[in-house]
Amino acid sequence: MRKQIAAANWKMNLSFQQAEKLLDEILAADISLANHQLAIFAVPFPYLLMTRSELEEMPQYKVAAQNCHQKKSGAFTGEVAAEMLHSIGVQYCIIGHSERREYFSESNIQLAEKVNICFENYVTPIFCCGEPLAVREAGNQNSFVENQLKESLFHLPAAKAKELIIAYEPIWAIGTGKTATTEQAQEMHAHLRNVLAAHFGNDVANEIPILYGGSVKAANAKEIFACDDVDGGLVGGASLVAADFVEIIKALQ
Ligand code: 13P
Repeated sequence: MRKQIAAANWKMNLSFQQAEKLLDEILAADISLANHQLAIFAVPFPYLLMTRSELEEMPQYKVAAQNCHQKKSGAFTGEVAAEMLHSIGVQYCIIGHSERREYFSESNIQLAEKVNICFENYVTPIFCCGEPLAVREAGNQNSFVENQLKESLFHLPAAKAKELIIAYEPIWAIGTGKTATTEQAQEMHAHLRNVLAAHFGNDVANEIPILYGGSVKAANAKEIFACDDVDGGLVGGASLVAADFVEIIKALQ
């Protein structure tokens, strides 16, 4: 059964104390998740260990990093290696978020290397794709995201691809309050699954959770998650409010 996932992306927000409090409040809701459901918290690097230990007794709750470097180790001041994440028990890492692509000029080719180094270190990539507004307005979103997958993921053997998590985040919906309609989300998610099936085969495509991201809120999560090819969400703003993220986790059910 394909996994369903509510993933929080805290981005560069919250003090350590605020982060602890937020996590405590969310965990206090004590939402029980089925074996095929996960809540993942992508937190800033300095909070990874704290988050991992808070989630220790909760097998369906996981911690993720928001980025890692593509090289194994070395003279890359300020960067964090996938091996370091693994060494502190981090099992997931967001790769290729549109903010990394835009503000840090991360290319599809570089992201392919990040995906590889994650897998080499037992870290599951949460690979982000999604088109900017101009591409959507020109009607070219399908080929745009297809190319992102092609250049960053198609080199993988099927057995590895099967372990991926993909997040579709249309850039025009991130932090804008403008959510894709359920039709737009379903259409793109089905397209992504078809692209994956054509390259890796149906079995692999049917295993890969495809999360939707972009102004997911407590009020719209249920409707979005109900789409056939939407397997949960990657949530920014609403994941910073305990009551909201609690509702979003519950929307998996
Ligand atoms: P918002 O939920 O704030 O739109 O952010 C989405 C996102 O970028 C998650 O990675």
